[in-house]
Amino acid sequence: MTVDGKVTTKNFGPVDFTSREDKLHLFRQRALADAVLIGHTSLKRDNVRLGLPVDLQQARTKRKQTPAPWRVIVSNKGRIDHRLKIFQSTISPILIFSTTRMPKKTQAALKAKATLHLTESDEIDLAAMLETLRTKYNVRKIACEGGPTLFRALLELDLIDQLNLTIAPYMFGGAKAPTLTGLSTEFLPASVHCSLIDMRTSGDECFLTYRIKHQRRRN
Ligand SMILES: NC(=O)c1ccc[n+]([C@@H]2O[C@H](COP(=O)([O-])OP(=O)(O)OC[C@H]3O[C@@H](n4cnc5c(N)ncnc54)[C@H](OP(=O)(O)O)[C@@H]3O)[C@@H](O)[C@H]2O)c1
Repeated sequence: MTVDGKVTTKNFGPVDFTSREDKLHLFRQRALADAVLIGHTSLKRDNVRLGLPVDLQQARTKRKQTPAPWRVIVSNKGRIDHRLKIFQSTISPILIFSTTRMPKKTQAALKAKATLHLTESDEIDLAAMLETLRTKYNVRKIACEGGPTLFRALLELDLIDQLNLTIAPYMFGGAKAPTLTGLSTEFLPASVHCSLIDMRTSGDECFLTYRIKHQRRRN
């Protein structure tokens, strides 16, 4: 995130305003997770594979984990292009949580590359998705890599435990570049309280770790 809270530019360009150290920090966080979660727009815009460098894969194997976390894509509409780079990488299985709005042709193309979880409703139930990941795939720790729309949806449901935030030494300004919680002009249903549990600086960047204080007791 920039100093003025932006996570991308007004054109939703890929995030290239942080350092190599930040990219490594992202990989290290990803490597700790059982699954990595991404919203369809970020996947499309950034065309990421969500893999890991070899040394981090080896470290996971030593810890008796799979070489890389499950890769999980979230999309309501389901118009996901099977030619995206993520589908060319076999580093770990891919799960797609979407709805039966996904066109039949797309379903057929994606079935060869991923496991599809399609709900009959118009929108995904994120809490139910997490439950499925826990019970069916034994996922305990998920690294959500955004984007802001997905992050905000999880935050509104009080489903985030920790936020790893890098402050990059830039300011973009403008109302059309999304902030950490997206472009919505609406307030969150309740302000979210965080406690700072770690802070580190490297060059001009600041790496923060916040624990999110839960608002409600979950069932
Ligand atoms: N600076 C950073 O660290 C960082 C990190 C991540 C992303 N980004 C940037 O953020 C931009 C994209 O942000 P964004 O907010 O538009 O995208 P996003 O959250 O990645 O994706 C939004 C899309 O994901 C699906 N989605 C999101 N929430 C959902 C929910 N609750 N249920 C079901 N589907 C859901 C929907 O897909 P469908 O439209 O297919 O239904 C939705 O349109 C990109 O430019 C990316 O580079 C920056």
